[in-house]
Amino acid sequence: METQNKKRIFSAVKPTGALTLGSYAGALKNWIAMQDEYDCVYCVADMHSITVRLLPADFRRNTLDVLAMYLALGINPEKCTLFVQSHVPAHAELAWILNCNTLFGEAKRMTQFKEKSKQDPDNVNVGLFDYPVLMAADILLYQAELVPVGQDQKQHVELARNIAQRFNGRYSPTFVLPEPVIPKCGAKICGLQNPTGKMSKSEDNQNNCVYLADDPDTVMRKFKSAVTDSDTCIKFDCAKKPGISNLLTVYSTFAGVSISDAEKEFCGCGYADFKKRVGEAVVEFLRPVQAECKKLAADKAYLQAVMKTGAEKAAREARKTLSKVYRKVGFVLPE
Ligand code: TRP
Repeated sequence: METQNKKRIFSAVKPTGALTLGSYAGALKNWIAMQDEYDCVYCVADMHSITVRLLPADFRRNTLDVLAMYLALGINPEKCTLFVQSHVPAHAELAWILNCNTLFGEAKRMTQFKEKSKQDPDNVNVGLFDYPVLMAADILLYQAELVPVGQDQKQHVELARNIAQRFNGRYSPTFVLPEPVIPKCGAKICGLQNPTGKMSKSEDNQNNCVYLADDPDTVMRKFKSAVTDSDTCIKFDCAKKPGISNLLTVYSTFAGVSISDAEKEFCGCGYADFKKRVGEAVVEFLRPVQAECKKLAADKAYLQAVMKTGAEKAAREARKTLSKVYRKVGFVLPE
């Protein structure tokens, strides 16, 4: 009953690689915080993952690891709807209908499609092109008002809104028009070696990226080698001091203090000592999370039960929207 007054939120994560400190700061932390205030639907978007070639065994394990990590970090399946996309066939079904209401030119303009096509010209598959339409199906099925995403996904949510608007106009009001919500700046964690770019795994340098599953020695080693500057002062200034600012953001996120308090705390502290203390804060944050994650990942029955309940809850909601859509486009409904 209570959920009726809460705004519906939809968001999803692609279980393609291991989760990083950046995934936590940029998305997960928000997801966890929003669980009480909103009616949240969270999806592990495995269907979106296969636009790139993956090893099936690795992919399967990674999907379960991502789910376990989410639960360990505090996503509570009692408070939200948490499910795996491929368990709810309505996503693929609605995507087809939305395909027929999306213009080729519109999809071709998507920045991410253009970038990914350039990055891997030998595998520009139709799925990559259609990726944002499947995303629109994800969002529109649940009648979500708000969609928290990173800056790079904003254009896709806007496309979802345009498709919804077109469908509503062509048939009759069917979909809620979704809006992207971009987390406030400062939550973005950059690479430790390349602090002007996103903390990504694609960098050549192993030390650029810290994974949520990294052991304490690895975390400490990566922070020790973090790039700083030739100055000596610990001050937040993204333009002039990207490395130090990024470390302050990491500290603020994982020690749970504000940036300005962190600046005060480290006033006069040497860079080497500062990097060590940032590493320690991350290790302390990760310690209980990793222990819980290990426990959950070993409990296959529990993970299966969470996925089953989540998929059932999601499928019920999704069916409501899909039945409406089938009726509106003029499909003959089976008795
Ligand atoms: N494309 C998103 C990403 O790469 C993941 C995603 C899939 C998503 N479906 C979505 C995000 C629907 C928001 C809404 O991060």
